[in-house]
Parts: sequence; structure tokens; C-alpha cells
Amino acid sequence: MTYEIYNLYGMYGEPWPRGDLAKGAMGHPAKFSRALIRQIYKICFEEGWVKKGDRVLDIFAGVGLGAMDAMINGLRWRGIELESKYQKLGEANITLWRRKYANLPLFNPDAIIYQGDSQNLLKTVSSGDINISSPPYAQTALHFDANSLGTDKVTGEHIKQPFPLIEGARNYSKDKNNLGNMPDDKFWSAAHTIIDQLFIALKPGAHAIFVCKSYVRGGKTIEFPTQWRMLCEAAGFATERIYYAWTAENRGTQIDLQGNHHTKIVDHKSMFRRLQEKKGSPKIEYEEVLVFIKQQ
Ligand SMILES: C[S@@+](CC[C@H](N)C(=O)[O-])C[C@H]1O[C@@H](n2cnc3c(N)ncnc32)[C@H](O)[C@@H]1O
Repeated sequence: MTYEIYNLYGMYGEPWPRGDLAKGAMGHPAKFSRALIRQIYKICFEEGWVKKGDRVLDIFAGVGLGAMDAMINGLRWRGIELESKYQKLGEANITLWRRKYANLPLFNPDAIIYQGDSQNLLKTVSSGDINISSPPYAQTALHFDANSLGTDKVTGEHIKQPFPLIEGARNYSKDKNNLGNMPDDKFWSAAHTIIDQLFIALKPGAHAIFVCKSYVRGGKTIEFPTQWRMLCEAAGFATERIYYAWTAENRGTQIDLQGNHHTKIVDHKSMFRRLQEKKGSPKIEYEEVLVFIKQQ
């Protein structure tokens, strides 16, 4: 199967503005990067994968951060999130955006985040024009972002075990239906159930986009995006594109008085990863944006 490969740079330096998030939403451990999700919507419009009024699905909706650009750009949005605390925060975000962005010319207030298990996807949402999601990883959905080590931003509780088995993994929730809590075999069978239903829900010619990343377990890189791609292809999707969204950013080169070149590289990695890589752990340099199509 052939597909195109692209690179994306500068996707990780921009925090979510506090004013765009309901109180507590920042505490979700695996949010979309602000710049990356905006870029994904931009690509979707440029490529004609969506048009005004289309319905976007997000089968792992978190706190609904995929909805904001959808609403601003005149799209309808339906998300499903298992954890009720995140679903509620997602609702609060949507309410906030309805107030804040109502006057934008293309704004579409039609966004809903359902509390539910995507293993029963078709019972909640039966059709969509595109899916844009970030899946939880097997036993790592609960991974933390760079700023979360030390204190749990949701509960305020001190994190006693900053270096667990898998990068950032922690018992964030106990729900056995959360893919992030499942051992590998259960994870892949649940994910299969979900992606099979997504394939049915999407119209022919529709795209399914997933943001995911390799991770390190027991000192070895787990190529999660490749595994996710195999799963989607098994469900009938064809891989159309892969974008590598690099965490490092070149901030330009300066020449000193002696004529030496100094290039400033900023790498947006967690402290944890940086430390582990210094100790010899394999490097994870990018997230992957996997673009699939349900062929006509
Ligand atoms: C990587 S996060 C998505 C975050 C989201 N993109 C955002 O920016 O808010 C994956 C989410 O999938 C949810 N999840 C895990 N298993 C699920 C299931 N069976 N059904 C629905 N959601 C699930 C997790 O609780 C988590 O919030």
C-alpha cells in the first residue's frame, strides 16, 4: 500500500490559552497540541476532506479539544468520551466556546460530547463525514504531559511515582473499559471493535485521522502508530498520508563575532523523556498524524 509522507514543524510551542479552556480542562493528561489540531483542520479544508456543515466525529474525545476549531470553521462535531469527568469538562469547554466565538462568521454551535464507551459507538453516533481523534495507548492513556509531573492538576494530589513502568503511566482512572487501562491483548481487541464500527459510521470517501506516538516500554520503542495503522487497514481503511510532527524546532542560526554558527534548537519534550534519553533510552522525536480514507 502506498502513501505520502510529510513533515510538520513548530507544532508544540504554543500552549492552550487559559481563556479557551474551562476550569480543570488543562488537567487532561493527553490533550491535542493547540497548533497541531489547528493545522489538521487547515489541511482538511485545503485538501477538501471537509466542507462547511460536515459532521466531525471524535471517538476518543477527552475534554473535547477537537471541537473548538470545528465550531469556529463551521463544522458540526460529535465526540464520545468514556470518563465522565472529562466528558463534563468537554461540555464546559463547548459552552465556553459558544459564548466566546458566537460572533465569528462561520461559527457553528452544533457540538455534543457524549459520555459513553466507543466500543458501542454505533449506538451513540451512526454517521459522520470525518473522524479526528487521538487514541489512548495500551496502559498509557494516562500519560502525563510535560507540566504534570509533581502534582496532579485535576485532584491537586502529589504524584508519588514520577517514573512508572511506562512513560508517564499512572492510575488516572480505574474504568476497565478505558483502553488506556487495558493490557495489550484486550486493548487491541477493544480497539478493533471500535474501529470496525467507525468504518461503518463513516461515509464512503470519508477520512479518519489519528494523532499518535511511539512510546518506550522496558527500554524498547513500541511503534504504536504502525500498530494502529495495521489495525485501521484491517478494518478496511487505506492509509493515504502520514505527517511526522517533530517535537524539535529550529529557532534559527546566529553567527558570533568569530564567525561561528550557533543554531538554536528547542525540543518540546517532557522533562521525563529528556532525562531518560540522556540515560540512553531510545529517542521519540515526533508524533504521527495518520490519515486514512474509506475508499468509495
Ligand atoms: C488521548 S486522549 C484524547 C484527548 C483529546 N484529544 C483532547 O484533546 O481532549 C484519549 C481519550 O480516550 C478516552 N477513552 C479511553 N477508552 C475509551 C473508550 N472505550 N471509549 C471512549 N473513550 C475512551 C480516554 O479517557 C481519553 O480521555
